[in-house]
Amino acid sequence: MKGVTVITHPLVQHNLTRLRDKRTGPQEFRRVLSEVAALMVYEATRSFAVEPAPVRTPLELARGSRLKRDVVLVAVLRAGLGMLDSILQLIPHARVGFIGLKREETTLRAMFYHKSLPPDLSQSEVILIDPMLATGGSAVAAMDLLAELDAKRVRLVNLVAAPEGIRRVQSRYPNFPIFTAAVDRKLNDKGYILPGLGDAGDRLFGV
Ligand code: PRP
Ligand code: URA
Repeated sequence: MKGVTVITHPLVQHNLTRLRDKRTGPQEFRRVLSEVAALMVYEATRSFAVEPAPVRTPLELARGSRLKRDVVLVAVLRAGLGMLDSILQLIPHARVGFIGLKREETTLRAMFYHKSLPPDLSQSEVILIDPMLATGGSAVAAMDLLAELDAKRVRLVNLVAAPEGIRRVQSRYPNFPIFTAAVDRKLNDKGYILPGLGDAGDRLFGV
């Protein structure tokens, strides 16, 4: 599927299976989601541009490189919080934003309740973090907001994606790559991903 990278690394798939398991309680769910997010971000950042950064070791000059652009992590609340911390530990210099979105239960429309983003995203690599891509309404709403702030390079990191959500995101933002651990079968009539893992936010916070 063009523009979609399914991360098939055995550790990612092992952890995804634990998260899908309905017997996994909130404490373990939080820990495993955090672990899997760190593994996924290696793949999601593989194509980040670097520039030469010569450095003097105690012995001589070494070639070396550094990231060309600054990195902005944007977590979609609530469930994106479960992935943020471990990614931030790997990219500690990243700036961080939050977008509060809640799907309205009957219409499945994503409604904003919080926006807090760093200024000037035009030169940044933005990683949009949300474990679930279902109808794609939340991702597209978040991307619209990022586009208003002039973000040009946005990559979406989801744990589980539905084909419906992928299509919706790609029809509006064909150049924004999607990284996921699984493309699941479909949505049910309530907008839940099948087989999915249930409501990520509820499982994460024990609601
Ligand atoms: C969940 C999930 C995504 C969204 C995906 O959040 O974390 O943000 O649904 O669904 P969509 O692709 O159909 O928009 P939810 O709105 O349930 O809020 P929560 O994270 O607070 O549980
Ligand atoms: N949000 C979730 O948390 N899970 C789904 O399956 C769909 C949307």
